[in-house]
Amino acid sequence: MRRKLIAGNWKMFLGIEEAKSLASAVVNLTDNNGPDILLCPSFILIPPVQEVVRGSHVRVGAQNLYWEEKGAYTGEISAMMLLDAGCTHVLIGHSERRQYFGETDSTVRRKTATALEKGLIPVVCVGETLEDREEGRTETVIENQISRALERFKAEEAAKVVIAYEPVWAIGTGQTATPEAAQEVHSQIRRWIKDRYDKEIADGIRILYGGSIKPDNATELFSEEDIDGGLVGGASLNADSFKAIIDAAG
Ligand code: PGA
Repeated sequence: MRRKLIAGNWKMFLGIEEAKSLASAVVNLTDNNGPDILLCPSFILIPPVQEVVRGSHVRVGAQNLYWEEKGAYTGEISAMMLLDAGCTHVLIGHSERRQYFGETDSTVRRKTATALEKGLIPVVCVGETLEDREEGRTETVIENQISRALERFKAEEAAKVVIAYEPVWAIGTGQTATPEAAQEVHSQIRRWIKDRYDKEIADGIRILYGGSIKPDNATELFSEEDIDGGLVGGASLNADSFKAIIDAAG
């Protein structure tokens, strides 16, 4: 049985004090009998948040990394820096990074490879645009994104990856994919992993849904067979709604 994972993507929100009090509320309102819990704050918030959650069941991840170890790369951050700061996970290829910061399937692959090599769990984000969906290209777009992100990875590497399916049209819009539509894509992703690797890896890999998850739609989404938790944006910025989503993942 796959243990569910609920990740909060705080994006470019919150100051240091707000982040500390939100992290502390998440630690106090939840326990380790439910899903795994991950908070992904902006870089500068990682050390203070890590200090708050240290020793608890809550883990900290970053929203991005750069593949070089060190060097003259103004504005970037390395896997070692994230590990040093206590991160266990890193989001890779979020659609906002693809849309506004020029990330491509090829940068996603390099970043995923670096995360795996250095010991961070990559949460690789994929998703189709509204245009893709309307023109019937969802399946092809998702398969291309995943096959490029995992290109040349061996089975034991692929097994460590978490995939987040986030339809671009559902992010921050209040428009969620129906549980059935999300399940269809999730099962297709799992089938692809099975064909590319094997059944054991496909059965073990966690596939999160993301895009306007709220307390009132979380239960239905998480009851779908292939939805192993969520990547939550807006609703993770409030302790009560994030807790309700965590509870929905039971
Ligand atoms: P949202 O964001 O929950 O605010 O739609 C999800 C995400 O971008 O990860």
